[in-house]
Amino acid sequence: MKRIFSGIQPTHNMHLGNYLGAVRNWVALQGDEFETIYCVVDLHALTQPQDPVELRAHIRELAATLLAVGIDPARSILFAQSQVPGHSELAWLFSCVTPLGWLRRMTQFKDKAGKQQDTAMHGLLAYPVLMAADILLYKGTHVPVGEDQKQHLELTRDIAQSFNQRYGVDFFPLPEPQILGSATRVMSLRDGSKKMSKSDPSDYSRINMTDDADTIALKFRKAKTDPEPLPTEAEGLATRPEAENLVNIYGALAGKDVAAVLAEFGGTPFSTFKGALTDIAVAVLAPIGGEMRRLMADPGHVDAVLRQGGEKAAALAAPTLAEVQDIMGL
Ligand code: ADP
Ligand code: NA
Repeated sequence: MKRIFSGIQPTHNMHLGNYLGAVRNWVALQGDEFETIYCVVDLHALTQPQDPVELRAHIRELAATLLAVGIDPARSILFAQSQVPGHSELAWLFSCVTPLGWLRRMTQFKDKAGKQQDTAMHGLLAYPVLMAADILLYKGTHVPVGEDQKQHLELTRDIAQSFNQRYGVDFFPLPEPQILGSATRVMSLRDGSKKMSKSDPSDYSRINMTDDADTIALKFRKAKTDPEPLPTEAEGLATRPEAENLVNIYGALAGKDVAAVLAEFGGTPFSTFKGALTDIAVAVLAPIGGEMRRLMADPGHVDAVLRQGGEKAAALAAPTLAEVQDIMGL
């Protein structure tokens, strides 16, 4: 059986980049080919300072968002990382088979710690070890990852191999990246050279999953473009990153490739195209936003889904952890 594991940090206000680049694929992977395990990785969130009250609210909000976009608890295990103590325990055991140099080389650590490597928290350095534990606790075989997580998945494979070699076992699988067709990289609506991100200070740079029709229309109207109409061929987008981004977003929302979008809109001015883009974004996002509001009004239901998911995850994790302890002589 192929087993997918993927995690997402509990942050407020999921945006269209998270949805088109990651979470929408999670929904599509639910089916007969894979067993799917999806995790709100709250322990990873602690690598940045968190207000406890907000963190608790964001865990629930993200779970509600995942349910609203179509993660189905009858077909996937959906839970929060901290519900299953095995994640932390396996991370410690892996810490003891992971050379420090492997972690110091991680570009995300170097980016986030910058010159403050001595005052950065150990958790920031150890983050990829916890990620390896997340995946391997369930013997995950496939992990849908974006560009930014590829290096960490490589390290997960290295850790699995290090464990297997040190103990002379063939215990952990080497999980493979699950390549997702043309994974959509959504760029900022204000600057085509930056990715759409919740850390961008401009609210107009991103569409949030809960934005209403008026807000979506306003953000697309204010989105940066150039005075030229849409080109008729994809090559015409090569030097126009903002135009290319809007075409990509339309294509991703409509399930069409760039050629098909340009066949329909080539020669059209952006003012017109932005109207069509708004319509399709509203058509996709309005039902999700509505479902989110319904779920957020029923927090007991969301908590119950997480609790049941956590119980299923813990039951899967227990035998693996017991075997790991046995192999290690504990
Ligand atoms: P942010 O950049 O807003 O902080 P995260 O780092 O929390 O987002 O990313 C959560 C998931 O969403 C990851 O799988 C990441 O690859 C994906 N993701 C984030 N931003 C984008 C984007 N602009 N386009 C495509 N995927 C994205
Ligand atoms: Na990020």
